[in-house]
Amino acid sequence: MKHLFGIADLTRQQITTLLDLGESFIELSRRSLRKTPTLRGKTIINLFFENSTRTRTSFEIAGKRLSADVINISAATSATQKGETLLDTAQTLAAMRPHVLVIRHSVAGCCHFLADYLPHTAIVNAGDGAHEHPTQLLTDLLTLRQQWPSVEGKILTMVGDIAHSRVARSHLIAAATLGYHIRLVAPKTLLPQQVERYGCEIFHDFDAAIPGSDAIYMLRIQSERLTDNCAFPSVREYHEAYGLNRARLARANPGCVVMHPGPINRGVEIATDVADGAQSRILDQVEHGVAIRMAVLTTMCGGQNYDR
Ligand code: NCD
Repeated sequence: MKHLFGIADLTRQQITTLLDLGESFIELSRRSLRKTPTLRGKTIINLFFENSTRTRTSFEIAGKRLSADVINISAATSATQKGETLLDTAQTLAAMRPHVLVIRHSVAGCCHFLADYLPHTAIVNAGDGAHEHPTQLLTDLLTLRQQWPSVEGKILTMVGDIAHSRVARSHLIAAATLGYHIRLVAPKTLLPQQVERYGCEIFHDFDAAIPGSDAIYMLRIQSERLTDNCAFPSVREYHEAYGLNRARLARANPGCVVMHPGPINRGVEIATDVADGAQSRILDQVEHGVAIRMAVLTTMCGGQNYDR
């Protein structure tokens, strides 16, 4: 693996290998000494052009727990504020010879684009527009692995702003590779066109999609990507129609888990008692995010015993 652009580039075997490695790093992150020398001498730059708490921090902690030198650059502090293009910024950083460049940007496909110009740097996509978010997807799979030995045949019901969600897109691709079923629940205004081609079930009525669900995955309304405010009448009505509350959750399969990539908007897509309830795996996802990013960074640097 030279780069990680999206889940679409990974085979079932590569996904399993990353999850195995990620699982071993969960244990490391619970020790009192949370550090291994695996990436000593490696340099990782996190280049984030969109706001982020968990993904950026998680990449930073992952790199530091592996003993890499980690540098963080955000849109506010980057030279793009002075008129430099994204390509010039990326080429400038690559000339400093980092081993890995982790990029988050609002433009779909920007990692593919940059990779052609940066032959010596591994690129990891930390979310590119509404395209893909592979490390979130792997994080979710690691969380589901704590639940069941395999996701094959399970029903994952994703609810909310599917149209703008790179997380949903990565799940639609992964479901085809790994054999789980996706139910998408959203008003028509928040569904991408021709989404049926992914082979998922589509619902506009949340209540109809709940029975049989093994996991309910809530998504935030991505207001920063909505071009108008006409996707739904009001937050109150959205919550009534598409919010996950206790009564709805009670109608899913016993043991159904609740997931969310964060940031959560309490009272919009999810009720507080569900977000904090026993079936919620939202904070487990955050914990597993560090472990999976450790696995990805290790792999990008050539694995545990090999120098890139
Ligand atoms: C998601 C993202 O940025 O795509 N969050 C994340 O990375 N944890 C989803 C979101 O922003 O709503």
